[in-house]
Amino acid sequence: MKICVVGTGYVGLVTGACLADFGMDVVGVDKDEAKIEGLKRCEIPIYEPGLETLVRKNMKENRLSFTTDLGPAIREAVAVFIAVGTPSRPDGSADLKFVRQVATSIGENLNGYKVIVTKSTVPTGTGKLIEGIVREQAGDDAAFAVVSNPEFLREGSAIEDFMHPNRVVVGSSDQRAIDIMLDIYSPLGRANVPFVISGVETAELIKYASNAFLATKISFINEVARLSERLGADVEKVARGMGLDNRIGPKFLHPGPGFGGSCFPKDSRAITQIAQEHGMSFRIMEAVLEVNDATKRRMIRKIEQATGGTAGKTIGVLGLSFKPQTDDIRESAALDIVDALRANGAKVRTHDPAAMEECRKLWDDVDFAEDAYQAADGADALVIVTEWNEFRALDLDRLKKLLKRPLIIDLRNIYDPSKMAAAGFDYVSVGRPATKRVDS
Ligand code: UDX
Repeated sequence: MKICVVGTGYVGLVTGACLADFGMDVVGVDKDEAKIEGLKRCEIPIYEPGLETLVRKNMKENRLSFTTDLGPAIREAVAVFIAVGTPSRPDGSADLKFVRQVATSIGENLNGYKVIVTKSTVPTGTGKLIEGIVREQAGDDAAFAVVSNPEFLREGSAIEDFMHPNRVVVGSSDQRAIDIMLDIYSPLGRANVPFVISGVETAELIKYASNAFLATKISFINEVARLSERLGADVEKVARGMGLDNRIGPKFLHPGPGFGGSCFPKDSRAITQIAQEHGMSFRIMEAVLEVNDATKRRMIRKIEQATGGTAGKTIGVLGLSFKPQTDDIRESAALDIVDALRANGAKVRTHDPAAMEECRKLWDDVDFAEDAYQAADGADALVIVTEWNEFRALDLDRLKKLLKRPLIIDLRNIYDPSKMAAAGFDYVSVGRPATKRVDS
């Protein structure tokens, strides 16, 4: 089956490569010529484990190709997946200009029944909007159906998430379109992955509600962490005790510096905005967003307090990406933290295994270190912001010798407080009592 995936960003590229691996004949389209030229040479513009291998394999086996020419790609396809960006507007709502452009092109090139699939996270009602635009171009009796098929991919494990999802959501009122979608995803059907078949609006809301709920879990545990600090409790034990209740579950209960990335902040703002547009205030989500901003600020206060003020000091910062296994820095708490440290007069020396290139463009007064040890060398404190594996087992003796003062501020709770004290560090983490170094 011929499939066209419009947009070769994160979602589009992963979707295209995985559908090709399911045996579909996929063409990926993007208007960015340099990107398409690169993709034709198998140069992957994003950092995602396993993606390059999958793209290379499916290109070699002639199931995956790339073009900037949208018209012919639409005309040849049975299903057109829309995976273009939906950036946040200043008021938090999603900007749909790229979706509109693609819908217009589909309408202009409609030459027979087609399934138009939204993969991007789009506000409820976008399905209807696309339908209207396509009809305007192609006429009232044009044969097509709009399907919402939201993605639930996590950066860093996107291929795994696509190939082994918890569920596949297909929203459409057209049975022929649903059957085509089930055909496209038949390898997952055979693997007994549950399918949720619904109306378009319902499918669109499933995506927002899922991300909003996960963001709520994170803000919730971050508030529990704040309360734990007041009470002298240990948030990690609280989270474990809560998570063992099957109804709660252990995932997304890790306290930290606040959630970031391309989805949670944007989707939480968008669902709040959608509710407002429909005369409702989604009060929990408003609080979730407020708590997330407050959590980032709280981390900065924590660093200032632990160091006795960072002005004139050198602070080592480990991790810049919004989470490990990605070079993505969008809405990363690390950016707020580094900016605040710079504004407070600190010298920042940082290391991240993947995201330094992006950050070099932002700051010219920050030192970028080769590794964690170089970031710690001569620093007054070391702050762990992103829990990359290579920061989990640092050589503590070596670190202690390098640091001017043995102070570690661990915003991801990856070390054990009592072990850090025994290793000779003053240690501050999130939602757990700080420990003082035990001098040997
Ligand atoms: C998320 C969703 O998980 C995915 O289903 C959706 O399609 C896109 O958004 P992603 O943004 O890639 O994926 O990362 P995720 O692993 O969910 O983490 C998001 C943010 O929450 C990160 O900043 C992470 O550090 C933070 N987080 C996550 C926590 O602070 N605590 C947790 O317990 C979990």
